[in-house]
Amino acid sequence: MRHFLTLLDVTEEEARHILDRAAIIKRKLKAGESHRPLEGKTLGMIFDKSSTRTRVSFEVGMYQLGGHALFLHSDATQLGRGEPVADSARVLSSMCDGIMIRTYGHNIIQKFAEYSKVPVINGLTDLTHPCQILADVLTFEEHRGSIEGKTVAWIGDGNNMAHSWINGAVSFGYKLKLACPKGYRPDEKLLAAARELGADISRSDDPVIAAHKADLVSTDVWASMGQEEEQTEREKAFAGFCVTEGVMTHANPDALFMHCLPAHRGEEVSAGVIDGPQSVVWDQAENRLHAQKALLEFLLSD
Ligand code: CP
Ligand code: NVA
Repeated sequence: MRHFLTLLDVTEEEARHILDRAAIIKRKLKAGESHRPLEGKTLGMIFDKSSTRTRVSFEVGMYQLGGHALFLHSDATQLGRGEPVADSARVLSSMCDGIMIRTYGHNIIQKFAEYSKVPVINGLTDLTHPCQILADVLTFEEHRGSIEGKTVAWIGDGNNMAHSWINGAVSFGYKLKLACPKGYRPDEKLLAAARELGADISRSDDPVIAAHKADLVSTDVWASMGQEEEQTEREKAFAGFCVTEGVMTHANPDALFMHCLPAHRGEEVSAGVIDGPQSVVWDQAENRLHAQKALLEFLLSD
């Protein structure tokens, strides 16, 4: 039994296998062929935070794989009224075949996994969002071929998405250049651990340095879920970190732009970039479905 709490819970070979399967499963779907390896299986989906893409892609994905998904918002379950995480994990994992969780502290999902009898999937914590990187790498490779050895620029908050791009540099072998404002840098331990595992990651506080000759430029909101009250102070700290057409001119001419969404046009990205020819954000969002179907097949099929 395996959990997927961060990208580093699967080997490099397994991460590659999941993406290879995602491409095959996507082709089957587009060709109208059914693929139902999870017939009779149920995924419990616990949400402590809002979601559009994650909820829909897991729910539709389970349906297409022949299974069923249950939407469990914490406000409507006993978890939201203080039932211990360990007790909820024991109970839910005695009925479901897999559990997906979107929550705040990463320690919550770790605790859940410790007491779960079935695979637990991270649908976003404050620390990481690994499912998003599976979709992002799938998207890059559909457009540009293998991401190994390519240069990815991360411009913005050193948040859960930045951390996932850091872990992805281990799994997928791209070079990562981070540009984050002072005070909003990624977690030092997570960064050091990725470097220890061989990831090629550099860091600065200059978006132009990060974007220089990049094959892919990615960013995310300045205030993540749970940080809404910091919006004003973050807007000040992140001034100069908007991915504009000017920033994109420093990247390779065929560089792609990505954003996990939802996006704030005029804050972390200009409308011209996100709605422009280099942007692949809609493919990225759709690929959540295909990448996670491959992940579900990997974790839940017999
Ligand atoms: N990118 C992403 O996880 O989107 P949602 O918050 O809509 O699930
Ligand atoms: N960093 C964002 C990602 C949303 C998909 C957040 O955590 O809110």
